Amino acid sequence: MSNNAQRKILVTSALPYANGAIHLGHLLEYIQTDIWVRFQKSRGHDCHYVCADDAHGTAIMLRAEQEGISSEALIDRVSRDHQADFARFGVGFDNYHSTHSEENRYFSELIYTRLRDKGHIATRDIEQMYDPEKGLFLADRFIKGTCPKCHTEDQYGDNCEACGATYTPAELIDPVSAISGATPEVRGSTHYFFKLPDFAGFMHDWINDGHVQPQIRNKLLEWFESGFNEWDISRDAPYFGFEIPDAPGKYFYVWLDAPIGYLASFKNLCEREGIDFDAYWNRDSEAEVYHFIGKDIVYFHALFWPAMLHGAELRTPTAVNCHGFVTVNGAKMSKSRGTFIKAATYAEHLNPEYLRYYFAAKLTAGVDDLDLNLEDFTQRVNSDLVGKVVNIASRCAGFVKKLGGGKLSEHCAEPQRLARFIAAGDEIADYYETREFGRAMRRIMELADEANTYIAEAEPWVLAKQEGREQEVLDICSVGINLFRQLMVYLAPVVPAMAEAARHFMKLDTLAWDSRQELLLDHEIAKFKPLMTRVETDRIDAMIEASKEDLVEEQKLKSTPKGPLADDPIADEIAFDDFARVDLRIARIAKAEYVEGADKLLRLTLDIGGETRNVFAGIRSAYAPEALEGRLTVMVANLAPRKMRFGVSEGMVLAAGDDDGIYLLEPHSGAQPGQRVR
Ligand code: 2FM
Ligand code: ZN
Repeated sequence: MSNNAQRKILVTSALPYANGAIHLGHLLEYIQTDIWVRFQKSRGHDCHYVCADDAHGTAIMLRAEQEGISSEALIDRVSRDHQADFARFGVGFDNYHSTHSEENRYFSELIYTRLRDKGHIATRDIEQMYDPEKGLFLADRFIKGTCPKCHTEDQYGDNCEACGATYTPAELIDPVSAISGATPEVRGSTHYFFKLPDFAGFMHDWINDGHVQPQIRNKLLEWFESGFNEWDISRDAPYFGFEIPDAPGKYFYVWLDAPIGYLASFKNLCEREGIDFDAYWNRDSEAEVYHFIGKDIVYFHALFWPAMLHGAELRTPTAVNCHGFVTVNGAKMSKSRGTFIKAATYAEHLNPEYLRYYFAAKLTAGVDDLDLNLEDFTQRVNSDLVGKVVNIASRCAGFVKKLGGGKLSEHCAEPQRLARFIAAGDEIADYYETREFGRAMRRIMELADEANTYIAEAEPWVLAKQEGREQEVLDICSVGINLFRQLMVYLAPVVPAMAEAARHFMKLDTLAWDSRQELLLDHEIAKFKPLMTRVETDRIDAMIEASKEDLVEEQKLKSTPKGPLADDPIADEIAFDDFARVDLRIARIAKAEYVEGADKLLRLTLDIGGETRNVFAGIRSAYAPEALEGRLTVMVANLAPRKMRFGVSEGMVLAAGDDDGIYLLEPHSGAQPGQRVR
């Protein structure tokens, strides 16, 4: 233990849903948390890192049904996959549990009944859309129909993709259940509410008390201004979850029991390892509790969760640490571009520690998004880890073997330099502690540069050729190995597998933070083996290709015709004549402009050879108007005109795309406006 006394620390990452694979977006969080946890453990603190699968809710129930298996079988399989992915990336949970567990049932009931008994639960009848065929109340995203404003068909839930209108699902024209296709009915039922307004004062103080980052605090204060409603925490059967005590047929909403899963997983660990659970969760606990989460789920973690805990007389988190999202090559991860990369796909092609290092090098304590630029990734890993760090050991190891018989020098030729490297550990520790990992990596690489410069200037390989200078060479290289050892202590939280290999090479029992204080003198080391190889560009290309193939596989699996989990169904076969009736034309985009009040649309003036058409296209997210003017595309010219809020749309332009992006079709050069397309 260096400066501070041993702390008791409990750390969590958000619980991933049990119906999808872990991808690079998830990994940022688990890697960030794991680095922080490994750092705390290296410092000798009593630190526990727990997680679990978030196993409840309608989406998981429907997914299981679609696969023709039970919800339990689905969540078991997904949990195994998740854990295998985490293990590959060196994410070292002390416990990985499930929200579908007895511990979680116990704590969900405990917290609920404590809140209820203190008057913080209300019940009220509400009206909701109901699928009479499935016997299921429908959340907004499971209802689709025709937009009441612009009459575009097939719009989900409560807003229109075409005109941007918002409405209640009850206002949709010809609404249907996206699950069964049945016409939904409006039905009433009793729901249970957590009375958040009871905790407004408490939440206000809490977010002003240093438990969240400044940007997050500001965001939360904005929400505060619009006031709080009671939070609907019940769902009607059938629902995959826990039944509410004394309320048959009513289940806890998944977001109620999800954070309680943190307690459940920790309790499970405590039972197994004899840790005192109450010492962490009692109201007067002196332990520290940290949640690492993405900025999209702040509301739940920084408002609802502390209020629930407080109301149930448990302690609240020391801090909720938020991070931003991952982008790849400057854009949102995209399935069609192959940048929606699953953890397993990455690990089949590249060393997970490259990614751990790259994320560390770019992480700050803030909530900005983090771009994984694949060129920069290659360059940085190769230059820092391989070119700077591993290089030190590989340059020195051979001489130690040859001139010292594998033993380092008995004395240190550069005590002051070593003292400075050791002292730098305090600064680096502060960066880790405050989650400024990027700064920590920069400081470590400065030290690596210094070590390389020292060796380059001392030129042991030149001296080695001169008679009688063997001891000098051994001294220099022993300093080199000692400097390398310092660096590996500092890097171990980030690249644990490489650190483990380095520990074997240096025949050390530990790379714990304080172990660096004692120099390695007259100390035997093992034969050097490469500790990390360079990133190869063709492996990156192969990974991108494989990610595109993952998409194809997924599409095949989703061939079930209806349902929000499937993509748009492929249309039935048609006769050639049907196709021939579609009048497709080459169009020149004469003018493109924003449409006031519509955040998805552009108004296009299309020239189809002497005739112009006015078309509203939902492509605003992908194109700036000025980038389109003058370009050619393909339009459906004989579509019946549609009246929209902003005017009449006289046709439709063709574009490929999904949630990840929109790509307007463009003919090869030479095509002329007005030409028929067939
Ligand atoms: O957003 C999500 O992926 C949720 N499954 C996170 C839950 S975190 C905690 F509350 F359980
Ligand atoms: Zn509309």
